[in-house]
Amino acid sequence: MHVTVVGSGYVGTTLAASLADLGHTVTAIDIDEEVVETLNAGAAPIHEPGLEELIAEHAGDRLSATTDYAAIPDSDLTFLAVQTPSTPDGSLDPTALAAATEMAGAALAADVDEPVADGDGTTPTDPVPHPVVVKSTVTPPALATLRGALADGVGGDGSSAGPAIAELATNPEFLREGTAVSDFRDPDKLVFGTDSASALDRLEELYAPLVAETDVPVVRTDPETAMMIKYANNAFLAAKISLVNDLGNACKEFGLDAYEVMDAIGLDDRISERFLRSGVGWGGSCFPKDVDALRAASRTAGYDPALLNAAVEVNDRQPERLLELLDAHVDVANERVAVLGLAFKPGTDDVRNSRAIPVIEGLRERGADVVGYDPVATETMRERFPDLEYAADAAAALADAAAAIVVTDWDEFATLDAEFDAMADPVVIDGRRIVERREGLTYEGLTW
Ligand code: UDX
Repeated sequence: MHVTVVGSGYVGTTLAASLADLGHTVTAIDIDEEVVETLNAGAAPIHEPGLEELIAEHAGDRLSATTDYAAIPDSDLTFLAVQTPSTPDGSLDPTALAAATEMAGAALAADVDEPVADGDGTTPTDPVPHPVVVKSTVTPPALATLRGALADGVGGDGSSAGPAIAELATNPEFLREGTAVSDFRDPDKLVFGTDSASALDRLEELYAPLVAETDVPVVRTDPETAMMIKYANNAFLAAKISLVNDLGNACKEFGLDAYEVMDAIGLDDRISERFLRSGVGWGGSCFPKDVDALRAASRTAGYDPALLNAAVEVNDRQPERLLELLDAHVDVANERVAVLGLAFKPGTDDVRNSRAIPVIEGLRERGADVVGYDPVATETMRERFPDLEYAADAAAALADAAAAIVVTDWDEFATLDAEFDAMADPVVIDGRRIVERREGLTYEGLTW
């Protein structure tokens, strides 16, 4: 099939390259000319393991990029993977996505008005409405805004007697950062949210090679329910971690090891052993934003979701609990304190909503002289804290430090023996259970 993907950010680029790799012809559309040039040159505009290789293999062949929405009518289906920023109250701002939706509709309508523009003399008008498939995560109530934007772009109010040119569908993504390319190839489920048999047929055809390869379960539903599945999925996982942290904090107060307790409850397959790692909490671009957007949309609809509110409250408190453990051992005012790990999780340079941010802020409020270290996220954190000291390696961060706080579970932190021993009086406060408790270290685990 020929597919257009609007938006070449994290999700859009992974999707475009992965669909090309499945055998489809993909046109990526982005307003940023630099991004378009990068893709056409066979390079990746974002860092994700395996992505560069896919783009290099398919660029100039099955994968191309343009700034021009006129590419849309030549394709069988269009994905929208445009960013949806958050407003201060946590709700989504769909303005950019709605603008892209309207432009997609306008491009489809323009092609109907000027059939000769297709170039090969055939009529480009599709016999069925062109599916405009929302990949971006938007709350179910916000889809009404996008349907309106699509109708505006097409040039009608959607109630005209003529055949519909375009229709909105949804196909949420569940990719994780750092494993997005392999997650695409081996998903747990596919979710198709459509209002018509023709849009569903196109999505089925598009993913047929993947379904044949993996036998992945397909959930077929309406567009709103599909988006709610995405929100419920992320909210459930975020709340699961917060529950584990809540229980973990109680374990710590009782003098118990939360990991021993969680390993045991994970044997109950209704609970499952995954996502039971307690510590300094969840961050990243998805969990915080999606949980907040869901809470805000629910409140607007008249329901205040008590458990989700509590999940956020527990998550917000974990960094402060970590700092309180430090306070019990060291008065950090005017002392050098090393923050080990700045990325929101290992394997990425993404610092969005990283727990390192409140930890650094809390240390500074205490008057500490903070030095940060991360194997890859120094430059991204420098944008957030330009005046923070950044060390080139863990040894340099720990030299002369009165204490170390571990925020990200990078593997290399598990082997920091000589580096800790070089500290005058090593104090290690671990938020991820990556450093081993041993003699010679004053060691505190957050929930163990
Ligand atoms: C998540 C979802 O997993 C993915 O399905 C969705 O599409 C986007 O959001 P991602 O943000 O890449 O993916 O990260 P993930 O690996 O899920 O971790 C999220 C956060 O939870 C990280 O800060 C991680 O450190 C934390 N976490 C995860 C825990 O604290 N404990 C755990 O047991 C698991």
